[in-house]
Amino acid sequence: MLRFDFRAWLESWLLPADNEDSETEAKQPRSDSGTSPPDDPTAPDLSYLKLHFAEALASFYATIAQIVASNPVDVARLGEITIKAKAEALSPAEMTELQLLKISAARQGRAIAGVYGFFLKYKPYPMLAEIRGKEKLFQPQFGPIMVVDGGSVRDVLSRHDEFTVDPYGREMVKSMTPAQNGGFDTFILSTDDADKFQEDKRLLTAVVNKDDPEKINDLVHTNCMQRVKRAVEESRLNGHGQIDIVTAVARYVPVTVSHHYFGIPAAKEKSSFELNKDMVRYYGEKVAGPNGKTPLPTEFQRSDGCIVDLPNTALSIGDGVIPDEAQIYQWIKASFQNFFNNVQKDIEVQARGVRAYRELLVYLLRELGIQRAALKADETVPDTMLTRLLKLQMGIADPAFTLCPKIDPSRVSDLRIVENIMGTVVGAIAGQEEATCRMIDSMIRLKEGEYAHSGIGALSGDERLGCFDEARQFALNVLENQDVTKNRKQLLQYALEALRLQPQSEILLRECRKEGATISGSRPIRADTLIFTAHSSAMQDTNYADAFVIGRDEKHYLQFGYGRHKCLGQYVSPVILVETLISILALDNLRRPEPCGDGSQFPLERRFGRLQLDDNNLYAKTFTLEFDFGGTTDQYFGQAPV
Ligand code: HEM
Repeated sequence: MLRFDFRAWLESWLLPADNEDSETEAKQPRSDSGTSPPDDPTAPDLSYLKLHFAEALASFYATIAQIVASNPVDVARLGEITIKAKAEALSPAEMTELQLLKISAARQGRAIAGVYGFFLKYKPYPMLAEIRGKEKLFQPQFGPIMVVDGGSVRDVLSRHDEFTVDPYGREMVKSMTPAQNGGFDTFILSTDDADKFQEDKRLLTAVVNKDDPEKINDLVHTNCMQRVKRAVEESRLNGHGQIDIVTAVARYVPVTVSHHYFGIPAAKEKSSFELNKDMVRYYGEKVAGPNGKTPLPTEFQRSDGCIVDLPNTALSIGDGVIPDEAQIYQWIKASFQNFFNNVQKDIEVQARGVRAYRELLVYLLRELGIQRAALKADETVPDTMLTRLLKLQMGIADPAFTLCPKIDPSRVSDLRIVENIMGTVVGAIAGQEEATCRMIDSMIRLKEGEYAHSGIGALSGDERLGCFDEARQFALNVLENQDVTKNRKQLLQYALEALRLQPQSEILLRECRKEGATISGSRPIRADTLIFTAHSSAMQDTNYADAFVIGRDEKHYLQFGYGRHKCLGQYVSPVILVETLISILALDNLRRPEPCGDGSQFPLERRFGRLQLDDNNLYAKTFTLEFDFGGTTDQYFGQAPV
């Protein structure tokens, strides 16, 4: 999924910059360093969160009360003076007072958002449950609204003219080339402007569609089995049956799908190519930084005084990269971080992200040239999103992908094709990696008996309690070629329920466009208010929400979103989930390993055998499980050499 995440939001206030994930090496601080943070009167006081960390995490509402007290606003006076300003001219003193009151309101709003970020990072589900226990949505005086109730979440996601995806677009717009691409400056997920959105969505859902799973199923299945086989062989050499789910399958199966389905080939070994004149014209200028004017620098001084080199966002002739799998993953992750996680507009994240998507875009332009030449020479080309769009451009599309009414040719120009593929694939790798890991983690929790299983009354219709051994049997049935369609369908139900219980993300972000709009009886909402729409919480509005129930009606599942922005990968992603599940469940006696080392569970999960994310709790890093050699491991992944 595309994840807009606020969990990193607090870093700049709470903790010294943690550059665990940084790809740039810090140099020594300058002797004249000592830059203090810019003097921002709306910067909130969040010291309570830091000084009373455990207490703050105990209750969302109590913490909100503390934070509101540390970031006060004279609401009565603000109301009074605002009404007066509408009726008559304010005196200079009153105008200054109004300005100061507005600043304090902005500060409190940011403080509230800071509390959301704090809980989303460390305790998302207890926060959402606490709000759900009390009301349908939390609406502070100032700052973003948090919507948690199932019906209200669906309502917000349906009213796309009032609650738009605009906040997603602010960085994405910089990756587009309207001056050269026919005037397009958006990707589907970055706009709710009907003129801009609808035609692109029609185009993209034609070339990425519900008939595709069947076409890629075998490829994904084979790839999962090969990758697990490789991991089993490596673990034989080490003498213990262990597999890191992240590096073995979750990270790179999506890269294979990007190669063979989206059309972004991964080479065995990384190499380089020369940009042509057009590529340099499109991407040879530096991109502007946070103020929209000054170009992003190539050297940057962090707040601790360290100097880091940043990649140049302007590409020159020698900058073409032919990527291997790791490079593709790195491009997507850096682009994703810049588009969706960088609320604090960190310069390093921006520079790395821009460089990454520009390298990807020129590589895609090169690939378009290769496929075009092949088509002109009457050669067979792979059936990918890229070649489907290219054939539309060339007027030789397969009937299945021909649109009626015809699509405006400017929407399938070279630049537009690569921009749309880039936007799509950004959602296909890092989010998919985490979703795969969460699903498997949830299956292990099921095996460990973690989900509610007693006191469950009558379940309705086709519903029944899920069971690890049953899921494993479905996987083995597929491998034995028995009723494969039926068994895969059952496994999909396991995958969806696993992700309901351990969702890949908590929040979808919207912004209120219509002054005075309301949600489920809320007070009128100011235009520009951010709406945190907790689709993960909405999935808890179901019977026996803490139980692993198979056969729930599909309407309970919002993993892939809801409404017009529902995931473009909603058909392909389940193939990745199910085929990964089959390959992992085929390992004999899959379980968590014995704990080792001194890993801790809190504030960040660092225990061996658990899914561990990075220090912002955003990207999967490692997740080691154990299995036995012999049995089904040998049966499906080969025996040890004698
Ligand atoms: C093949 C993999 C995937 C691809 C290509 C993909 C691509 C996309 C794209 C292009 C959109 C924007 C659609 C629009 O605005 O009309 C989107 C939305 C979304 N995707 Fe995915 N995605 C993938 C995997 C996933 C996964 C694994 C999840 C979570 C389990 C997910 C969850 C979502 C959600 C929740 C949205 C809606 C965002 C919103 O409404 O704010 N996607 N996806």
